[in-house]
Amino acid sequence: MNPSTPDDNPPRRSHPADLVDETIRSLKQMAQAGCSGFDSAPASLETINRWGRPAPPQADPDRETLPDIRADLGDCRRCKLCNSRTTIVFGQGAEQARLVFVGEGPGAEEDRQGLAFVGAAGQLLTKIIQAMKMTREDVYICNIIKCRPPGNRNPQPDEIGACVPFLKRQLKSIQPEYICALGSFAARTLLDTDTPISRLRGRLHDYLGIPLLPTYHPAFLLRNPERKRDVWEDMKLLMGRMGIEY
Ligand code: URA
Repeated sequence: MNPSTPDDNPPRRSHPADLVDETIRSLKQMAQAGCSGFDSAPASLETINRWGRPAPPQADPDRETLPDIRADLGDCRRCKLCNSRTTIVFGQGAEQARLVFVGEGPGAEEDRQGLAFVGAAGQLLTKIIQAMKMTREDVYICNIIKCRPPGNRNPQPDEIGACVPFLKRQLKSIQPEYICALGSFAARTLLDTDTPISRLRGRLHDYLGIPLLPTYHPAFLLRNPERKRDVWEDMKLLMGRMGIEY
């Protein structure tokens, strides 16, 4: 008796997306070789391309937009930082970014310009984003708090309590695939933990169903350049998950 029956070795089944890729490739090759009598127009190939792939997420008409949230924030006076700030730093970038970077809070330059991460640490963050083969416009960049604490002191619990609900609404609106928490303050606030950043970094955690990667803050890297290697390892982890080759 042949011990290898067909049921023991079922034929390898291709994923529908593989079959679609193969079909498109074959149609293009046949058209280039001069074959005719079939439809290889770009619009038809795009229709084929959608077969077997998950439907794109439908716009949720009830989902708050970032401008809605910004409007609700208004000229915020919900905590004492409003007395010393120059500008509210809401956050900026793609409204449907796949990746959101969350830092601590605005520094002097951010307070002047009203934009997150535009000082020295921001320039390093720009380089990190570019090394990940993206631009600042591809991602969303924001902070745990939106107003600069005097002298760049650490944010206080009442300030965080007043501000974080807006960040959470921003994250809910953007629905990113990944969050990167820059530094101990962002990571510990979003993950609600006291664990040091050195023990949090290097692996994905969960923030309301969104994978969150803690890593060192760019300002820390400016003071400790030997840690850049760790951050690059963290970014490679994210790139791999995001399907970006490195
Ligand atoms: N540091 C932060 O955490 N955020 C900024 O926007 C700038 C510096």
